[in-house]
Amino acid sequence: MPHSTPRFPILFETDFEMTVAVLQFPTSSPDETRAWGRNFASQLKPGDCIALIGELGSGKTCFTQGICEGLRVTDRVNSPTFILVNEYTGDQRDARAIKIYHFDLYRLGGEEELVDLGWDDYLDGDAVCLVEWADRAAGLLPKDAIEIRIDAPQEDVRSFTIYCGERGQ
Ligand SMILES: Nc1ncnc2c1ncn2[C@@H]1O[C@H](COP(=O)(O)OP(=O)(O)OP(=O)(O)O)[C@@H](O)[C@H]1O
Ligand SMILES: [Mg+2]
Repeated sequence: MPHSTPRFPILFETDFEMTVAVLQFPTSSPDETRAWGRNFASQLKPGDCIALIGELGSGKTCFTQGICEGLRVTDRVNSPTFILVNEYTGDQRDARAIKIYHFDLYRLGGEEELVDLGWDDYLDGDAVCLVEWADRAAGLLPKDAIEIRIDAPQEDVRSFTIYCGERGQ
């Protein structure tokens, strides 16, 4: 089977078989992070799962806000705190409505809690799932999740690396 055309320019292969880092970029302000999020949103398709991984305050919510702006969400986007997931409606570029589920798994007690919440149903449909602290449910992430790792090398600098492709198990 021929490979489908990658959605992003390939930067370097991190793993022979599967995972490919497709994009790496630094940002030096929250506005710049949001702008990259808006840009990234234009590449998203219904059913995508975005796994955001980075320490406290690394910029996961900020990037998520940019993605939601790009998907024309008009609601205020903030991390869900006492519940695990927020739901928004946005528009794709062809003006078709799209559902967005925004998870924050920081307080997740265990993967079974997410299963009980209906994780599979959230992933199954045509929604875009944005998952902060996705590493807390590593065993439940779909193989084709787009993984975004964020580092904070300096106070205002954030380094983003986007990985695509089937993850090896
Ligand atoms: N380049 C940058 N990009 C994003 N945020 C930045 C940047 N520089 C500084 N910041 C600040 O870092 C903080 C990051 O906040 P954000 O809430 O997005 O992080 P987070 O990863 O979601 O944290 P948490 O794990 O607590 O949910 C904000 O206060 C923001 O203003
Ligand atoms: Mg957050």
